[in-house]
Amino acid sequence: MEKKERRSQGWFGKTGKDGLIYRSWFKKQGIPTHELNGKPVIGICNTWSELTPCNSHFRELAEFVKRGVYEAGGLPVEFPVMSLGETLMKPTAMLYRNLASMDTEESIRANPLDGVVLLCGCDKTTPSLVMGAASVDLPTIVVSGGPMLTGRYRGTSISTSDIWRFSEESRAGRMSQEELYIAESGLCRSDGHCAVMGTASTMACMVESLGLSLPGNAAIPAPDSARKVMAHMSGMEIVKMVENDLKISEILTREAFENAIMVNAAIGGSTNFVIHLLAIAGRIGVDLSLEDFDKFSANIPLLANLQPSGKYFMEDLYYAGGLPAIIRQLKDHLHNDCITVNGKSIGANVEIFENFNEKVISAIDNPFNKTSGIVVLKGNLCETGAIIKPSAAAPELMTHTGRAVVFEDIDDYKNNIDDPELDIDETCIMVLKNVGPKGYPGMPEVGNMGLPPKVLDKGVTDMIRISDGRMSGTGFGTVVLHASPEAAEGGNFAVVKTGDKITLDVPNRKLELLVSDEELAERKKAWKRPEPIADRGYVGLYIKHVEQANLGADLDFLRGGSGSEVSKDSH
Ligand code: FES
Repeated sequence: MEKKERRSQGWFGKTGKDGLIYRSWFKKQGIPTHELNGKPVIGICNTWSELTPCNSHFRELAEFVKRGVYEAGGLPVEFPVMSLGETLMKPTAMLYRNLASMDTEESIRANPLDGVVLLCGCDKTTPSLVMGAASVDLPTIVVSGGPMLTGRYRGTSISTSDIWRFSEESRAGRMSQEELYIAESGLCRSDGHCAVMGTASTMACMVESLGLSLPGNAAIPAPDSARKVMAHMSGMEIVKMVENDLKISEILTREAFENAIMVNAAIGGSTNFVIHLLAIAGRIGVDLSLEDFDKFSANIPLLANLQPSGKYFMEDLYYAGGLPAIIRQLKDHLHNDCITVNGKSIGANVEIFENFNEKVISAIDNPFNKTSGIVVLKGNLCETGAIIKPSAAAPELMTHTGRAVVFEDIDDYKNNIDDPELDIDETCIMVLKNVGPKGYPGMPEVGNMGLPPKVLDKGVTDMIRISDGRMSGTGFGTVVLHASPEAAEGGNFAVVKTGDKITLDVPNRKLELLVSDEELAERKKAWKRPEPIADRGYVGLYIKHVEQANLGADLDFLRGGSGSEVSKDSH
């Protein structure tokens, strides 16, 4: 037995009946006695699922993590948690992010683990696992599954962002169903998650910039042999983290969150970054607000020329030097001394990385766009905030006043958007209600709603759209998201009507409904809270307890953590 008592020895180090039971059932898996005598027991938290195609290669990836754990003298133990596949889950994978985080937290906490490797890929699988692990606070490292190789369609490069373009082409009658069939066969060419700077890639960059993964983790394509090496090296690293008792709370400092916001601005990351980072901060006890996203991204230029804000794909980012080549250029902005999983600072980690392609990663003194990041809007249409990603929006719409065309819910939108009689043109502002956390429920990615055909026919490709929902990280357009309080909670967003005038003023961070306070007060008197669509099970629990988007949409009782101590035995 080693001198230092590990957490896992609270199970395997016991004598008498309890120790017998703990060890005996573990040994039935072919584990010899000496493996249980004080080696670090490393949980590999696996979100493999054939219902999450982005993570379908994770069984193989876990084997490479195990190799690293064994090499460093640890005992790896793989376990499943709820996997959230973005493309198949109804009504939206976001509804289940908090449930998966609970599964992760309790699976780690209840079991004889000294450290954890989180295998994350498709959008929600990263924040849910990090949220859960943060609430336990063991040594923790993230291994991302990596992006897919760039897709192909008729000789051109494509990926998920093209879905929205194809959809508009199809709705305008310029692309046939046959062409869509051809496109879908070339879109997802390999293992991995979406190949653009969508939410999955943004989340991989988030964990790397927070210091929760080894440098270079985010951009390595899933099929590249370097991804397996990354898994192996991370397996070795987690054993060291346990030896050094380097817990996730020591990495997730306020400064690390500020770094992540700045890096997200430089990469043109997904708007979903906001809601997930706020939720993680809530778990680890870091005081982060919506305003911090605006404040810390304000002076950061856009360095990554990646779709949907730019031209290239994640594969190109990897060949250009990966995320470390971007982080290195931000050294005058970042907290370079923030500690990361390998015990070194984020500044030291990126020193050896170079930028090999300035078409993909610009020099900081010659950026692709001087402004980037997330702008936080305030005003009487979103009393506690809304966000917009200017790098994915039309510059000419950044200041605009228009007539509202309001859809009360997603069915209202679907039933009317293609109607030739719909009174709308490109100067109007489309408003979609009841797609927020409680209202849908689950806050789906429908905020970048398609434009009406009568506008598309004119060749117009963008209009201002406002909702209390989210947008896919692969989406783009002048899209105001996360308006809170959401329509289902009352507030002015609940009572905006078709014909009202709205002003969007991004330079001044304003979103104003040009209706008098008196008129709004009258409308609110007549407003009735919608009946919740479920009052039982997880969905009922979610609707009762989910917080608003400006707080991260976590369940109110999940804020903070329970820690790793479990005093009672099961026998
Ligand atoms: Fe899984 Fe895009 S669908 S990352």
